[in-house]
Amino acid sequence: MFSNPVIETQKNHVTIRQFNEEPIETEMLEAILEAGRRAPTSSNMQAYSVIVIKDPLVKKRLSILTGDQKHVETCPVFLAFCADLNRLQQTCEMHDVEMTNNLETFIISTVDAALVGMSVQTGAESFGLGAVMIGAMRNSPREVADLLGLPRGVYVVYGMCLGWPEKSSIPPQKPRLPKELVIHHEKYSTNDASDLIHNYDKLLVKHYEALGRNLNPAAWSGVIARNLGRSIRPENLDLLGEMGFDICRKSEY
Ligand SMILES: Cc1cc2nc3c(=O)[nH]c(=O)nc-3n(C[C@H](O)[C@H](O)[C@H](O)COP(=O)(O)O)c2cc1C
Repeated sequence: MFSNPVIETQKNHVTIRQFNEEPIETEMLEAILEAGRRAPTSSNMQAYSVIVIKDPLVKKRLSILTGDQKHVETCPVFLAFCADLNRLQQTCEMHDVEMTNNLETFIISTVDAALVGMSVQTGAESFGLGAVMIGAMRNSPREVADLLGLPRGVYVVYGMCLGWPEKSSIPPQKPRLPKELVIHHEKYSTNDASDLIHNYDKLLVKHYEALGRNLNPAAWSGVIARNLGRSIRPENLDLLGEMGFDICRKSEY
């Protein structure tokens, strides 16, 4: 198989939730953010912002808002990856244009933020840093926005704890779904997925058993069914609308 240092970094990815006390050097963080800023961006809109948070009190509050996730408080650096339409709105005003904002601008800005974040995570991991993305920043979008001083048209897509991994608690890699299920050639393959999903459940049970956790045999499928059998954060459609993301707007064709 072909390989190189970037591929090795990607293949070695594992989410880290325990950090030691060592700070991240300012220059290293700057290098990671600079590399992240080179991520591709839809129509060069650069519809994202990143907030770098080191203040222990802000991290503490964010850890509470994200469901008491301790790593949010204990990591030396927390990054908030935001979808940002505010700057684009100002740009349109410079040309006396009223910006229209709809599902697409929501997707564009959310994808831009996600791409920068992924690029930052890979850069960080290439130095040996550990990271965990924090989607729970969307548990309370309004409170998070107030805490971080976000203007209208900006929301946090996800956060990221960054720090040096606590060596004794680096977890083994979590197995992924088999490639036959997720990589398709030429056309989407609609073969029944259930056998491969059963096998994946078994693989995950083994993974968790090795960590001393005894799971229900439907280690993946059962969790997915439980989580997706109810609506996830249903209030966010209205909340994000109030924050300036007009997701449901119907414009004329
Ligand atoms: C968008 C996104 C949000 C996530 N949010 C959280 C989170 O709030 N808390 C957490 O502990 N892990 C979170 N994770 C990490 C995932 O749980 C983790 O990536 C997944 O279980 C696979 O494990 P691995 O990254 O070690 O392979 C998030 C990951 C992504 C991509």
